[in-house]
This record gives sequence, C-alpha cells and structure tokens, in this order.
Amino acid sequence: MKRTHSATDLDVVNVGQEVVLNGWVDTRRDHGGLIFIDLRDRSGIIQVVFSPEVNEEAFRLAEQVRSEYVIAVKGKVCLRPEATENPNLKTGKIEIYAEEMEVLSPSKTPPFYIENGIDVDENLRLKYRYIDLRRPEMRDNLILRHRVVKTIRDYLDGKGFVEIETPILTKSTPEGARDYLVPSRVHPGEFFALPQSPQIFKQLLMVAGMEKYFQIARCFRDEDLRADRQPEFTQLDMEMSFIDEEDVFSLIEEMMARIFEEGIGKKLEIPFRRISYDEAMKKYGSDRPDLRCSWEIVEITDLVKDVEFKVFSSAIQAGGVVRALNAKTCGSFSRKEIDDLTKIAVENGAKGLAWIIVAENELKSPITKFFTEEQMNNILKQLNAEPGDLLLFSADTHETVARVLGTLRLELARRLNLIDEDELNFVWVVDFPLLKYDEEEKRYVAVHHPFTSPRLQDVDILESKPEQVKARAYDLVLNGTEIGGGSIRIHQRDLQERMFALLGLSMEEAREKFGFMLEAFEYGTPPHGGIAFGIDRLVMIMAKRNSIRDVIAFPKTQSASCPLTNAPSAVAPKQLRELHIKIREK
Ligand code: AMO
Ligand code: AMP
Repeated sequence: MKRTHSATDLDVVNVGQEVVLNGWVDTRRDHGGLIFIDLRDRSGIIQVVFSPEVNEEAFRLAEQVRSEYVIAVKGKVCLRPEATENPNLKTGKIEIYAEEMEVLSPSKTPPFYIENGIDVDENLRLKYRYIDLRRPEMRDNLILRHRVVKTIRDYLDGKGFVEIETPILTKSTPEGARDYLVPSRVHPGEFFALPQSPQIFKQLLMVAGMEKYFQIARCFRDEDLRADRQPEFTQLDMEMSFIDEEDVFSLIEEMMARIFEEGIGKKLEIPFRRISYDEAMKKYGSDRPDLRCSWEIVEITDLVKDVEFKVFSSAIQAGGVVRALNAKTCGSFSRKEIDDLTKIAVENGAKGLAWIIVAENELKSPITKFFTEEQMNNILKQLNAEPGDLLLFSADTHETVARVLGTLRLELARRLNLIDEDELNFVWVVDFPLLKYDEEEKRYVAVHHPFTSPRLQDVDILESKPEQVKARAYDLVLNGTEIGGGSIRIHQRDLQERMFALLGLSMEEAREKFGFMLEAFEYGTPPHGGIAFGIDRLVMIMAKRNSIRDVIAFPKTQSASCPLTNAPSAVAPKQLRELHIKIREK
C-alpha cells in the first residue's frame, strides 16, 4: 500500500485509474450503506467512499476508524455523481471508491478541531503544535515561508551572493538587547553569547574579501516579547563591499518584488517611496509610519507661540512643540469618546489632549476662548478644517507629541476602518540620527548600532554636535512594521575608535570587546554596508497574520517558554557542577 499520488494530484483526468493514497482521516460520515472519509494529506483533501458491495472488509474497517487515524487506501478514481460535487475542494469533482484499506496508525481524540480559524487557547495549540500544524492555514504559512526563503536564495545566488554560516556560540554583538549566555564547561566562569545578529562576522567576511554575503540566520535576543518579537527569530542577513545606499535600495526593491510575486502573486510598485526620519516623526509620529492611512500630523508651533493659552505657549517656551491631528469625520464623537482618546494620550505620556469640534457654524471646544479670531482662523486653515472634523492638539516635547499623535492616528485609522488590508505600503526611512542620549545611562547610545557610519558631511561635528549627526542608516517599513534595517558601515579604524569613544567606551573596553574587529580593520578593509530583514515579520504580513508565532513552526510563548518541550527547565545537579554553576536561592 505504498502511495502513488498525493490527494490533490488527482483530477478528472485520472478517472478510471487505480491509486493508493496515504493520509489522515479528516472527517468520517456514516450514511449506513456508505461511509465517506475525507482523506487529508499535506496537499489537501479528497473524498473516499466505502461500500460493502465493493469490499466488505474495507467497509468494516472504515466503520471503526476515527478522526486523525493514519490510513492507506487503494481504490479507483471515479467522477462524483451529479449534484454531489463539492466546489470547495480542489478534488471536488472526483472521489475514490475504496477497494482496500489499512490502518497505519490510530489516533486519540485530538485536543482541538483541525480546521481554520479555531478559537483555542494558544498555549494549548503550542503544547500540541504538531496537531496545530495540521490545520490548513498553519500548513500554508509554513509552505509560504519555505517559498519566500527559496526565492531569496535563488535571487541572491543569481546576483553573485555567497551564503555563509557564522557561529552560534560566540561573543556578545551589540544590537541593544540582552544576550542569551551559554556557560563554558572547559573554561570555568566563562560564557559564550548567542548572536543577536551576525553583524560582526559579516563585516569580517567583507574584510576577508567575500564581497557579497548573505545568510538565513537565526538570531537570539532576550527582550520583552510582543506579537512581532520572539527570543529567537530568523533574519535574512546581507553584506556587500564597494557599494552605497542606492545599490542596497535597488537590490532589495527588486528582491521584494520577486518575493511578493512568487510568494503571493502580488505585483509591487518599485522603487519604494523614501522618507526621512525627521519627516516620519513629524508627520506620522513614528519612525515606522503606516502610510496606508493618509492622515498627517500638522505642525502649528509657530502659529501658537504667543497665544494666551498657557498649555501651548509654555510648552513651546520649554523647548517643546505643538502639533495637531485633523481627525476627519470625527466631529460627531461624544464626550465619552473624546475622553477615551484623552486617556490614550495620557497613557502615552501626554498631560492632556486639547480638542476642537468643527461644526457647521460654530466651534465646540474648551480652549477656543484662549484664542483671538485671527489666531483660530490660522489654525483652522493650517489644518484644512471643515465642518464635521475633530481637531486634536498635543503640546509637549517633540518626542511625546510624536508618540501621542502617532498613536491616536493609528488608533483612529483602525476604528474608522481607514486601512485597506489588501494594500502593501513599503517605505524606506532614511537619515536617522546616529546617536541618541540615554537619560538612564547618562551617555550617548547608537540608534542603529556602533558600526554604522555617520554621513560624511557630519564627521567633523561628531564630537562637537553629536546629536545633529545623521547616520547612513535605513529601515524598510511595510504597513507600519519595521521589516528590515541596515547601514553603510564605518570601515576606518580611527573613525570606529572615535565612535566607541562617543559611546562612552574607554580605549581599554573597546579593545577588550571589539579589539579583534579594530585589528581586522588594519589589514585592508573595503568600504561596505548591508541590511537584515526579519523573515518572520515579512512572512507574517504576507500571510496576513497578526503574530509572528503563526509563521514559526515551534515558537515560544509571550513569556519566552515552550509548552511543547517545557523548555526552559531545571537541569541535573551534575550538569551544573560540570559547568561550575551554583544556583542562588531566591
Ligand atoms: P535589526 O536589529 O534592525 O538590525 O534587525 C533586523 C530585523 O530583524 C527583525 N527583528 C526581529 N524579528 C523578530 N523578533 C525579534 N526579537 C526581532 N528583532 C529584530 C526586524 C528587524 O528589522 N545587524 C543589524 C542589521 C544590519 O545592520 O545589517 C540588525 O540586526 O524585522
Ligand atoms: P487645562 O487648562 O489644564 O484644563 O487644559 C485645557 C485643555 O487642554 C484640556 O482639554 C486638556 O486636556 C488640554 N491639555 C492639557 N495639557 C495639554 C497638553 N500638554 N497638550 C495638549 N492639550 C493639553
């Protein structure tokens, strides 16, 4: 009973053929004289009919099997009788008349239904992941993921890239998260770090003369988990020598077009739009703007500098800004709805949320009394206000205002259904700042990572005006999710040392952490740059899912554990002794 075909290999052209199928019992319907089994394999479903008149023994066996039994069936492909065709099945015009059947393996009753869209606790799905993955939508996600990776490999191979593996047991790479550490048995008290990315190795491969590198690389980051973050995830990691930003953009745009065409049959418009970090923060309140919503935040700082309304004028005096969002058509919002928006604003750090409802012949608002008619008219004009609009104002630091209005923009776009779920909106975000000041650590930290090059025209102000220096860094954003990021790197040893110094690393610390890299830079380093994509995030969006867990075969829960294997778990005292580790009592 070795299989001759997969379920969906068969079609009307096979009618009359004798075939052997292997698979799972998806459903079984007993109509007394006839038993129908929907046989499921990876390819899909086909109906098998058992009749005592064809084979009594097979019929008796079919009476006994249950859902998820694994069976082998030999039989003849027949056209379904008229009016019994099933247009929902690829094989809906045919069925197999069973002549023989064998149970290859029985099954207990599964803990949940094997069908799309089930409403089951995710922990249970993860505990029985091998059953969860039998559901067609999960199977399709994994197959899509395979196709995406295959397309990437073929495309990059065609462009002269070489796929090279880099170590998993390694030294800390600075990507801004906590490391996962692995104790060394042979070196007591010493640890490997799992790579947060292959960043350092891929740069060393450029020093090594590999010119075009890529890797489908597993990365590990111990950070707070969200729907689009896992402790281990997969990057498409790339690096190239003798290139600039434009080479990266055009290579990636063409690759994305291939991925979406071959993966989900969507044609992308390239080149992608580009927007500077400053513009993204100002207009959309985010460095990963979702441009599927056309609403823009509007700057009104200059218009309200001298107004009587202290909330605005004092925020500006303190170095802050005033910006507003015209929530089109929201003029009918109730006080409760506006209070609700205020609550969201406050949760995001605002001290309040000023608002104006623009009605046909009047303005309804607690703040209009603080403005002259001329001032108010200027504001309304700047915001293109029309009757029916709700204007929302935030006065605070640049960062807070961006966060508050950026969050409200997305929240309202969702509530008003402004986002077309079929749209794919790509945008390159460029001209990021190189550094940002970390209040907690009381020092500058790299916005991307410490190997990112400053713009050449900014090198002279690196030490004198660090906050004004822009980086040669870029992110690719799709529908408001950062799917990739990279930069042109520093390839001169002295500039890299200046960068480490700016980040507050002493010469000694820099040598201790990255001495091998600084040394490598002394042996002929090509100018180079690269980028890395979150494969999980990319496939998640292609598959229209809300969580990357749905496109990873065996993901971790939100609390970074695995319900299937129960990892992480305690280990035997002997293992700890060998590793020179003692667990401290809480
Ligand atoms: P970065 O840290 O931006 O860059 O990571 C690149 C991309 O990886 C994805 N990503 C994640 N996906 C799932 N779970 C996570 N915890 C997670 N963290 C990041 C994102 C992100 O855009 N070495 C640099 C790249 C370079 O400069 O070439 C780097 O790792 O989609
Ligand atoms: P108050 O004068 O504090 O009563 O505030 C008047 C209005 O301004 C209220 O609607 C507040 O929610 C709003 N408000 C207070 N602080 C801010 C701020 N920083 N930005 C925008 N609106 C604010």
